[in-house]
Amino acid sequence: MCSEAPIGLFDSGVGGLSVWREVVKLLPDEHTVYYADSAYCPYGQRLPDEIIERSDRIMDFLIGQQQCKLIVVACNTATAAAIAHLRAAYPLPFVGMEPAVKPAALHSVTGVVGVLATQGTFKGRLYHETLERFAGHVQIIEQPGDGLVELVENGATGGEEAQALLEKYIRPMLHARIDHLVLGCTHYPFLIPAIRKITGDGVTILDPAPAVAQRVKFLLSQDNLLNISGGEARHEFFSSGDIKTLQRLLP
Ligand code: DGL
Repeated sequence: MCSEAPIGLFDSGVGGLSVWREVVKLLPDEHTVYYADSAYCPYGQRLPDEIIERSDRIMDFLIGQQQCKLIVVACNTATAAAIAHLRAAYPLPFVGMEPAVKPAALHSVTGVVGVLATQGTFKGRLYHETLERFAGHVQIIEQPGDGLVELVENGATGGEEAQALLEKYIRPMLHARIDHLVLGCTHYPFLIPAIRKITGDGVTILDPAPAVAQRVKFLLSQDNLLNISGGEARHEFFSSGDIKTLQRLLP
């Protein structure tokens, strides 16, 4: 494995860019390749086998063609469905997404935590194990964010439709007195300004992306795979669908 090889990241669409930006911030010397599976987005209501099949095709590209040294599954739904398969099938490190239920449960004062995620993430074994291990002492309010991924993909994060949908999903959580809101989908950080209009500052919004970036750094340094060759980092973006969706959210 070559330390100058890129880090690969993928998501069903643009959501994983919320993880990509944290990885690039923490590891500015690393080359990256990002793959948005926009032609198959959203993943949220697909069967696990379909997502595993898509993940394998994406590995053909990220590992087979781009020779990535580490893969970030920058999608909670794909992590839930496919990360065990990916780790067993390919000989390189994988970092997945895990809803930040643990810190939320640890720091909650009201004892009520809200989780916004896709149906696929809520159904996953990983999520239930996390709940059992870390959140037995708090009340968890689960809310599937149906329709939110599509709004982010369409660049409609600041519109009335997004605001109304978020209001419908989050207002009942506020009535139940949540003090932490866990974002369990990598698309949702792009909705934080709209979410804040509803929650105000009294609710802590948790996005696991910075912790994921730390994990990437830890694994690369452990395997002596940090890029220390100098020179400017190269960032490449690919999509199975319309690349314009991705371009809209790039810095
Ligand atoms: N960004 C994906 C996630 O984190 C979105 C899933 C979807 O495409 O529905 O779950």
